[in-house]
Amino acid sequence: MFLDALRKGRQSQCKIDYEFTEDNRANDQGRGYNFTEHWAHNFHFCNWSKWLLDLPAMEALPGGPRVLEIGVFEGRTSTWLLENLPSARYLGVEPFPNSNLRVNLNAVTRNVPGSSIVMVEAPASKALPDLITEGHKFDLVYVDGDHSEGGALWDAMLGWELLAVGGIMIFDDYFDWELPDEMEKKLGTVRKGCDSFVNARREDMRILWRWDQLAVRKLKEPGTTPW
Ligand SMILES: C[S@@+](CC[C@H](N)C(=O)[O-])C[C@H]1O[C@@H](n2cnc3c(N)ncnc32)[C@H](O)[C@@H]1O
Repeated sequence: MFLDALRKGRQSQCKIDYEFTEDNRANDQGRGYNFTEHWAHNFHFCNWSKWLLDLPAMEALPGGPRVLEIGVFEGRTSTWLLENLPSARYLGVEPFPNSNLRVNLNAVTRNVPGSSIVMVEAPASKALPDLITEGHKFDLVYVDGDHSEGGALWDAMLGWELLAVGGIMIFDDYFDWELPDEMEKKLGTVRKGCDSFVNARREDMRILWRWDQLAVRKLKEPGTTPW
């Protein structure tokens, strides 16, 4: 059933709809969710539906696609994912979980019985090396945590290690994010971090989308030098 919904998303033209309507809010509340921000938009999710369908053997992935989200906030994306991909095995990394996140995860557990959710309360710089050491792999990695240039680059490189071949990595705020000049000088931007990452791994990826978000598919594991 969820694949039908995704297929419908694939056929439709994704409309840019950054507005959050009262209807959206009422629908969220009706399902027990409480969001104060809507940083993740229907427009994004419409694009995601298309990319997710192209995950290798999406319908046959044993146990469902493995999803890693870096930066969870109130769980807007995690709840969308679990509602639309109920078979997903979701792991979120968030150093500062808030009370709305707890409300929203409880709601999705009620709405999608049997949903698989693991939340790691730590910064990605600590959590991701542990996941690598433990041998985890993911089919979708969504990077939306530390929005500095160095943070985005670090999460991208570690996330790439964790991404299975054929999997998709999506970065939020590739284009959209405007920092005050002073902050940009000091911290850089997500876009700069992403561009360094793409440059370093360009042989191993295909770019699916580069606009407000960046989406890339992993084609192969990176090579290493023999010395
Ligand atoms: C833009 S919000 C995430 C929104 C969420 N992905 C969604 O779609 O609803 C960014 C989140 O990243 C978290 N964050 C900040 N630094 C982080 C880090 N080093 N590692 C992981 N998450 C981080 C923040 O606490 C915040 O909750």
